[in-house]
Amino acid sequence: MNKKLNRNDPCWCNSKKKYKHCHFEFDETLKSLSYQGYPIPNRKLIKSRKDLEGIKKSCQLTKFILDELNTIIKPGITTNEIDKWVYDTTLKHHAKPAPLNYKGFPKSICTSINEVICHGIPEDRILKEGDILNVDVTCIIDGYFGDSCRMYPIGNISQQAKRLIDVTKECLEESIKQLRPFDPINKIGDVISEIAKRESYSIVKMFGGHGTGNQFHEDPFIFHYKKNEKLMICAPGMVFTIEPMINEGSEECIILEDNWTAVTKDKSLSAQWEHTVYVNEDKIEILT
Ligand code: MF3
Ligand code: CO
Ligand code: CO
Repeated sequence: MNKKLNRNDPCWCNSKKKYKHCHFEFDETLKSLSYQGYPIPNRKLIKSRKDLEGIKKSCQLTKFILDELNTIIKPGITTNEIDKWVYDTTLKHHAKPAPLNYKGFPKSICTSINEVICHGIPEDRILKEGDILNVDVTCIIDGYFGDSCRMYPIGNISQQAKRLIDVTKECLEESIKQLRPFDPINKIGDVISEIAKRESYSIVKMFGGHGTGNQFHEDPFIFHYKKNEKLMICAPGMVFTIEPMINEGSEECIILEDNWTAVTKDKSLSAQWEHTVYVNEDKIEILT
């Protein structure tokens, strides 16, 4: 339980401001949402000024790397070559790649081709015209994490593949646009479900977004589909990812022998886009 603060006490967030001028109203709002049955975030999930600054820096490097990959990824390159470029570039910027050795993951990025949903491992496979590739990058700077992924079409791709990529991006962007501070996480899955339904695509349920920033994966779990239970409130100060995985065919998923690579059971194409976002006082800010 949190200690009851008086209005003139210093705020619990270490801002050195008086509670009544800092998180007093915030706490009142959360209290009333909690009475309505919504889980509310633990104070550990509310980032400090200093945390936010560090997280922003890390997110900027992640964004820079994903931007640069546009000029590097083309038919003929292998996913191992992309991995090496990201590893070298990350170190050059005095950062570390978070995936490397994370729970035994052997490489610096995830590279997920065509029917691979996520967590594909870079290898010597050569990318060929028509493939669709997801690259998922997470940097660590001074202990702070920035997590983002994008789709890269390899040369010319089919109209169907392009539509899947564009709709998945729309799922991410529209859910961010419609989410407001103090909304429950339900909003994200509700928005994505509407878009996926409209296009007759399916949403992967086995993986979700996650709190991030001070650790790779923190609470809360971010559902990308409709849930009937009340989910946690997105309170100002929280940092989390939204990273919908959308399949052309069925949502069913298989994990390969390597214990990482997740593929669609029916071998249909899958796409994913991811941002790290910050819940500000008045809006959701994209950090990547
Ligand atoms: N970056 C992924 C995510 O969005 C996690 C990858 S875990 C790894 O959460 F070990 F595969 F790198
Ligand atoms: Co993530
Ligand atoms: Co990621």
